[in-house]
Amino acid sequence: MKSILITGTSSGYGLATARHFLAQGWRVVATMRTPKPGLFPASPNLQLLPLDVTDLGSIQAALDAAGDLDAIVNNAGIGVVGAFEATPMATVDEVFATNTFGTMAVCQAAIPRLRARGGGVLVNVTSSVTLARMPLAAAYSASKAAVDAFTASLAFELEPFGIRSKLVLPGYGPTTAFAANGGDRMQGLVPPAYAAFAEKVFAGFANVTLTTRESDVAEAVWRAVQDTTGQLRFPAGADAVALAQAR
Ligand SMILES: NC(=O)c1ccc[n+]([C@@H]2O[C@H](COP(=O)([O-])OP(=O)(O)OC[C@H]3O[C@@H](n4cnc5c(N)ncnc54)[C@H](OP(=O)(O)O)[C@@H]3O)[C@@H](O)[C@H]2O)c1
Repeated sequence: MKSILITGTSSGYGLATARHFLAQGWRVVATMRTPKPGLFPASPNLQLLPLDVTDLGSIQAALDAAGDLDAIVNNAGIGVVGAFEATPMATVDEVFATNTFGTMAVCQAAIPRLRARGGGVLVNVTSSVTLARMPLAAAYSASKAAVDAFTASLAFELEPFGIRSKLVLPGYGPTTAFAANGGDRMQGLVPPAYAAFAEKVFAGFANVTLTTRESDVAEAVWRAVQDTTGQLRFPAGADAVALAQAR
């Protein structure tokens, strides 16, 4: 039986991805900062483990407890929207600690394990902000662009070991907990000088026609995990696919 570990499965894209692989008959190690058992159907193929991607000890402990894995998905992420000049550097640190260094730390801990067993696949979830510029998201975009470049380079050195490296690029998903989870972090990040600009940007968010569903991301991760063609980037969701095609 194939097995996968996914970070950030308490809600949104990560939860849908974990459920999808479980439904496809995989052994799923669903990780989250605080495990919540009621989220999944009871299954002997499900293992719930605590994992905070900003805590190296917690990453090692989760990988030790997970045993042999075929695939690892770095989905955990946090957002911040606002004017960069008003975004405290502590917030920029927090976003990079989770989105960028958290992803790198999980990869670094997983690589020797995958190498020892002769291969596997790493999937890093970034964002469609790496396909097209998004206003008022400078720090968040930078955190995801770094993961894009990191994964693209890493793919070369891991290929000889049979480890495939993939990127999944979701578009805007209004139905996940992403905005709510970032609510406190985003307070006060639009100073009066930016108010008119921000109003137009936020009105644009409210009027989007194409968005991304949780199932789009689960299916893109599924395709990325199975892929043996060498494709690196997998846009997920109608908006992300349209942006990728426009490039
Ligand atoms: N929704 C969007 O519009 C959108 C668009 C493009 C890309 N994305 C990306 O898609 C991924 C999933 O986001 P989502 O929309 O599904 O948002 P979400 O519902 O907020 O899910 C994010 C998950 O990350 C977890 N997480 C946060 N910090 C963590 C940490 N330090 N260690 C481990 N887990 C942590 C959260 O768990 P807790 O319960 O512990 O907080 C949650 O399970 C993120 O990487 C995000 O950047 C989202």
